[in-house]
Amino acid sequence: MVSRSFSMGLYGMDAFVVTVEADVSVGLPGFDVVGLPDAAVRESRDRVRSAMKNCGFAFPVHKITVNLAPADKRKEGPIYDLPLFIALMQASGQLGADLEDSVFIGELSLNGEARPVRGILPMAIQAQKSGFHKLYIPASNAPEGVVVEGITVYPVKDLPSLIRHLTGQEKILPAGKNTDTPFASAPLPDFSEVRGQFEAKRALEIAAAGGHNILLIGSPGAGKSMLAKRLPSILPDMTFEETIETTKIHSIAGTMPDGTSLIRTRPFRSPHHTVSPAGLSGGGSIPRPGEMSLAHNGVLFLDELPEFSRSAMEVLRQPIEDGKVTISRVNGTISYPCTVMLVAAMNPCPCGYFGHPTKPCTCTSNAVSRYLSRVSGPLLDRLDLHIEVPPVEFDEISSDEKAESSSVIKARVNAARKIQNERFKGTSIACNARITPDILHEICHLSELGRALLKQAFEKLGLSARAYDRILKVSRTIADLDQSEEIEPRHIAEAIQYRSLDRKYWMKEL
Ligand SMILES: Nc1ncnc2c1ncn2[C@@H]1O[C@H](COP(=O)(O)OP(=O)(O)OP(=O)(O)O)[C@@H](O)[C@H]1O
Ligand SMILES: [Mg+2]
Ligand SMILES: [Zn+2]
Repeated sequence: MVSRSFSMGLYGMDAFVVTVEADVSVGLPGFDVVGLPDAAVRESRDRVRSAMKNCGFAFPVHKITVNLAPADKRKEGPIYDLPLFIALMQASGQLGADLEDSVFIGELSLNGEARPVRGILPMAIQAQKSGFHKLYIPASNAPEGVVVEGITVYPVKDLPSLIRHLTGQEKILPAGKNTDTPFASAPLPDFSEVRGQFEAKRALEIAAAGGHNILLIGSPGAGKSMLAKRLPSILPDMTFEETIETTKIHSIAGTMPDGTSLIRTRPFRSPHHTVSPAGLSGGGSIPRPGEMSLAHNGVLFLDELPEFSRSAMEVLRQPIEDGKVTISRVNGTISYPCTVMLVAAMNPCPCGYFGHPTKPCTCTSNAVSRYLSRVSGPLLDRLDLHIEVPPVEFDEISSDEKAESSSVIKARVNAARKIQNERFKGTSIACNARITPDILHEICHLSELGRALLKQAFEKLGLSARAYDRILKVSRTIADLDQSEEIEPRHIAEAIQYRSLDRKYWMKEL
């Protein structure tokens, strides 16, 4: 007898419907799975067999053939245990339910309990789009599934309770909307703890408001890492679309915090400098999202930038610009979005004190050059704001005066982001940093005076065309923070000032 059940599959960010067909026929006992299954899918056979036996169901002692359709798409992971079980129950006559509007996803333990799996959110979204009405998923995945409107989510605890539900003996209650509170997490470190460093704070505020990349450079102990770690406390609130996109990635990567349905705060990822290029971009035979994508709609923080390997830094270049990372494999390519704000921190030289007002630098000029040249020109060019973090003065560090708190800064950032959300309504642009070339000059219109200023800087600083575009975008953000419709000369002047640091360090005459 042939029967079928429905499940879902994932390829990158795209989910698709998978039909699990089971044929139980007379012949030598055997159990074959066909339709491009990976090793974990093939192991389903053993898990399902044990789970069925241990739950008191009869495992058919016949020739069993299971086909996962469409056969040309690779099926990955243990998510087909549950649909396989359902198809086998139907094919062996132990269950006779109409399940044409239901999708089953889940791994099984050997004693028949449903175990959580990755990628529920994109699969649930696609299941609803494909016209299914019921979604059976492991109970601990339920918070993720209920985010999707228009499909009823049944949390599955184990096989016996599922069968009792499907045969109408004892109903499983559909999962309700999740009520996890958005900001229940531990309080974030606050900017009021950072003494002095007003310029750096201002630059971080601009970066957060427009989603711009920023480089912090300064001597040891000046507060670079401290400043960067406080960024999450001033990042603008996420829009619903951004929340869904970011959650999808974390759902696929299996990095959703337990019991959460949505990632509502912008991610802040700070991979260690020993990270491999694949760790940043994503890897595996069916590639999973890497750090760049896990930071989607949030911050990718690279502390001690020159310590990162050349290949790791190079892998960043294109994705940072495009907002997506593409990974090629023999059986096709996968893209993951990575609209991130890149934040990098570094010392100016190996000893750390090059350019320090009082402490002498003990490095040779060659060593300084070598150190700085680890950060390549193209990468530097992609960092919109370069800011020096000078050592804090004694008076500042010992003062009792409380600095501005993150909530005050965040309010300004949110106001500036609101203007951008209005401006880019109906487009795929998220913030000023993502303005596309075709509308750049319309959105970042300059007055005559502004133009003249920029021209002067362009020639004097030897800016690239990219740097020119980026200065325009930053000045748009500065104007937005100022609630000004026009980009005034002072806005453009401030934006230019954040691009002058590379002259001091990278283009200096040694
Ligand atoms: N501006 C500041 N206000 C208050 N405390 C500060 C400030 N700067 C540094 N500190 C103190 O010094 C410690 C070290 O700062 P931090 O780690 O941010 O330095 P850094 O600039 O990243 O140095 P390195 O170049 O060595 O990485 C902080 O944890 C904090 O206690
Ligand atoms: Mg540091
Ligand atoms: Zn030095």
